[in-house]
Amino acid sequence: MRNLFDPRPKSSRSELFDRVDELEILDKSVGRPLIVVLGIRRIGKTSLVKSFLEPYNGIYIDLRGAATHLDLYERLSEGLSNGLSKLRRIIEGIRGIRIMEFGVEIRWRGTDSISLLGLLEELNRRGQFIVVLDEVQDAKPPISAELRRVLAYTYDHLSNITVVLSGSEVRLLSDFIGVDNPESPLYGRYFIEVDVRRFSRDESLDFLRLGFRQEGIEPPENLLKDAVDIFDGIPGWLVQFGRNYIDGIRDINAIREQAISIALSELMRLSRRERAVLKAIAEGARTWGQVRRIVEERLGETIPKSSLTRIINKLESLSIIKDYEFLDNVYRDAAQRL
Ligand SMILES: Nc1ncnc2c1ncn2[C@@H]1O[C@H](COP(=O)(O)OP(=O)(O)O)[C@@H](O)[C@H]1O
Ligand SMILES: [Mg+2]
Repeated sequence: MRNLFDPRPKSSRSELFDRVDELEILDKSVGRPLIVVLGIRRIGKTSLVKSFLEPYNGIYIDLRGAATHLDLYERLSEGLSNGLSKLRRIIEGIRGIRIMEFGVEIRWRGTDSISLLGLLEELNRRGQFIVVLDEVQDAKPPISAELRRVLAYTYDHLSNITVVLSGSEVRLLSDFIGVDNPESPLYGRYFIEVDVRRFSRDESLDFLRLGFRQEGIEPPENLLKDAVDIFDGIPGWLVQFGRNYIDGIRDINAIREQAISIALSELMRLSRRERAVLKAIAEGARTWGQVRRIVEERLGETIPKSSLTRIINKLESLSIIKDYEFLDNVYRDAAQRL
């Protein structure tokens, strides 16, 4: 079993801290066609869905950045390979699938090939099966469009398949599923929604205490309390804190700086105007008009109304802000330095 402060997503229920309520909802929903798991970065979506999958026949597929058929089938073969010990009997004999010593090969073009949909149909015939698609809102055309069609067909016709989508709220619901878009193939399909919540203060403290106990270290209680104040119930940051402390960084400000610099390097990928908008919000702008005034003043240029609205929508869709508030304090602190 891996320790709590292992930086990779957890993949078994024994490694997972809490999430009892979320797992209960997920377990109860097995057999339903569609479940959507939502939450901000580092909140523990991947850990939750992987651990959920543990006792079931199913596959986890990470779709971040997948754009081509090759990407899609590589991710699929990776997912099958990782679950091979439990899936071997189910996928044996499916056309286009070859089970090798260390992994699964998929032939997706030419004779004796199989498509994603074909594979799902085969799996559906063999009984209850769970397909987890992580960060599916981050797949790119043409794969994103194909996934939508495949999932709509699965929803309507493959009753043994439960699909779990996990990712950031706005983009998953609005962009991928298209909850407000009648043109989307997935429009109007009912789904179970699981929101991955922050840990409370007490849970965060317990998380840190347990993590340090596993490492045989006992940091001063007031340092743990400071960390909990800064990292606000987000397990990914708590793990980062734990790792830094173990690595010998003992000063809470230095640890905070590390987290801020990670967030800052992500924000640096945004455009100049997007960064200026974030900085304005980090400095307290609370309305569209305030943001506009501050940004125009800072950049010394006028910004068309529609551009500003588009930027704010994008920042919301990235789950950085919502209603002119940061969803994660570390990003707010980082944005002040943009
Ligand atoms: N419930 C949990 N128990 C233990 N560790 C967790 C838990 N949730 C998240 N983590 C840790 O936090 C970090 C971020 O989690 P991850 O599942 O990758 O989040 P997300 O997918 O939401 O970005 C990882 O290091 C993971 O191991
Ligand atoms: Mg994840």
